[in-house]
Amino acid sequence: MAQRKMTVTVTVDGVRYEEEVEPRLLLVHLLRDRLGKTGTPIGCDTGNCGACTVMLDGRSAKSCSVLAVQADGSEILTVEGLASGDEWHPLQRAFHEEHALQCGYCTPGMIMASLDLLQVNPDPDDTEIREGLEGNLCRCTGYANIVRAVRRAAAESREVSGA
Ligand code: FES
Ligand code: FES
Repeated sequence: MAQRKMTVTVTVDGVRYEEEVEPRLLLVHLLRDRLGKTGTPIGCDTGNCGACTVMLDGRSAKSCSVLAVQADGSEILTVEGLASGDEWHPLQRAFHEEHALQCGYCTPGMIMASLDLLQVNPDPDDTEIREGLEGNLCRCTGYANIVRAVRRAAAESREVSGA
């Protein structure tokens, strides 16, 4: 039997979308397959790797662990909406400058989880960064450069905000 469709309205990277979806559709599939937001990858589909992390109403969320219908009415920010025009976000710049990626598969999720971390704690030490990102797995880097990148982005953001 065909599943009843439901209407979901979301704002993603500043653009409002209204989509008819099956109740079982995951948010990550709405983002990637329906809205073309392929900058958000799927690593495991089971809530383990964090590759699919986005900001959902201002907090990080693993979009493979959220149903699209649960996100109805929400504001979503993906890595694709992070830059301001041509200017990278400090986290994007820092990941680039600190060589905090190799294959890059974990990077969108790492950056979005880091964004959440820095919102809550603008001046984290290395342990706090590692703890803040423990839900995000990287198979390539050994994490050291990721920690350095988050510290660098935090310092830059504090400088800009005068904190
Ligand atoms: S794809 Fe969502 S946590 Fe791995
Ligand atoms: S850079 Fe390859 S998984 Fe992190």
